[in-house]
Amino acid sequence: MSIVSSLSPRALAAPESGIVEVVNYARGREGLLPLWVGEGDLPTPDFISQAAMDALAAGETFYTWQRGIPELRQALSDYYTRHFGIRLAVEHFYVTGSGMQAIQIAVQALTSPGDELVYLSPSWPNIAAALEISGARSLSVELQFEGGKWAVDLNRIETAITPKTKGIFINTPSNPTGWTATKQDLGDILALARRHDLWIMADEIYARYYFAGGRAPSFLDVMEEGDKVIFVNSFSKNWSMTGWRVGWIAAPPAMGQVLENLIQYSTSGVAQFMQKGAVAALDQGDDFVAANIAKAARSRDILCDALVATNRVETLKPDGAIYAFLKIDGVADSRSAALDIVDKTGVGLAPGTAFGRGGELFLRACFLRDPAQVATAAERLCDYILKL
Ligand SMILES: Cc1ncc(COP(=O)(O)O)c(C=O)c1O
Repeated sequence: MSIVSSLSPRALAAPESGIVEVVNYARGREGLLPLWVGEGDLPTPDFISQAAMDALAAGETFYTWQRGIPELRQALSDYYTRHFGIRLAVEHFYVTGSGMQAIQIAVQALTSPGDELVYLSPSWPNIAAALEISGARSLSVELQFEGGKWAVDLNRIETAITPKTKGIFINTPSNPTGWTATKQDLGDILALARRHDLWIMADEIYARYYFAGGRAPSFLDVMEEGDKVIFVNSFSKNWSMTGWRVGWIAAPPAMGQVLENLIQYSTSGVAQFMQKGAVAALDQGDDFVAANIAKAARSRDILCDALVATNRVETLKPDGAIYAFLKIDGVADSRSAALDIVDKTGVGLAPGTAFGRGGELFLRACFLRDPAQVATAAERLCDYILKL
């Protein structure tokens, strides 16, 4: 038996990222405007890095709390009070090595092999892959694209539920579609979950990127004590910390020991000096996050206004998150279009094929970037589109 064929079938079945394929194709090209990956163009601000460096210099290099240092869990609790108007005691919070790891831990906590989790598609591909790798099954329910916007159909979710379903994964505002659940949607989904005794895994990492003002509606607005809702979240997007790999879970305190154990047997906890950086992000980062949100709002307007004006792009401005998921007339295969666009315009977009069912005809552009750069990208894309 060859080395590779002797590996776990689940590991072998893990899909290659369709975004990385395009990135690798054009990586390092001169003049490239990279709108393909979901991150901003700024490095982590100094006040965050300095806090981590100070902790490192002070010798904070030992094993630490599995659930997260008390200071960071307190800072998370305060953050929710400030920005969500909701008091969650520190016992709700668990620090993880990225949003991605928060998802892995939540998947491990909720599902056994063979269990199913329903999610809305098009979707950031990692949720389905994390489930499949763990032995659970991912069942997608397509959002509907109508009049340039996305909407959820509750009946479709209900139809997808089987006796094996353990939960529903909801990412709102959504990567890649920008679909943002209303409070009514969230209440309806929660009622559905209660009726079928299902978990909700809520990925609200883009909740602050909500362009109507304030933050996006959250399950926190509709749920009650005792509801089976687990939140996965991340420092990546709000505080420009994608490379740090720090995230968190907010979950019922009764899960504490189970989550602590799952963290113990994966990373055994996030480095203490990085957690000190995360404390600075939460306690001192409100202005930085506000500037990031304002930048995203401006760049969203520039990109979407220019593209819609070609009359060849159906997508309207998304209500939330940091992506325009573009349906361009004449694009029938988004993978080859992404390769062609990067060759001809020097603008890097992610192909919709990477985001599963319902995304095949779309291209994703991340607009958390300098508005002047986004304006240049928009100009080049408009030229390209008008020649199609
Ligand atoms: C919807 C969603 N959830 C979770 C993550 C994970 O973030 P990270 O692993 O960088 O913390 C991402 C990253 O792109 C995302 O888009």
